Amino acid sequence: MIGKLNHVALVVSDLEAACKSWQHMLGAQLSEPQALPEHGVTVVFIDVPNTRIELLEPLGDGSPVSRFLEKHVGGGMHHICLEVDDILRARDELIGKGARILGDGEPKTGAHGNPVLFMHPGDFHGTLIELEEVRPTT
Ligand code: CO
Repeated sequence: MIGKLNHVALVVSDLEAACKSWQHMLGAQLSEPQALPEHGVTVVFIDVPNTRIELLEPLGDGSPVSRFLEKHVGGGMHHICLEVDDILRARDELIGKGARILGDGEPKTGAHGNPVLFMHPGDFHGTLIELEEVRPTT
């Protein structure tokens, strides 16, 4: 079912400071910050040769990552994102196997313009997993 590791997402309390660390210490190439109000985050992408790192900073009231920062002061690893080629088929198969999908179970548009879903971390031993539909290019 699963394909490539699309990204690893890290929540940070100070995006600007985090960008400086990644840039100056690791020589990372950073995207411009992108505000995603519907997800309650501002995101910066870092391309590495085999995947992407995303730095997430809370945006607005009630950001889903604000609660994460209350428990993980300063920030920490938030989720991994795996690619699937058909998100609705993957969702239905997972539900059939007893996995729980967060929210209303309908895909939302993610940071890369593709449909995404999140699975309940309780079903994956504490790790939050995002699924992103990346259609095979023909
Ligand atoms: Co993500």
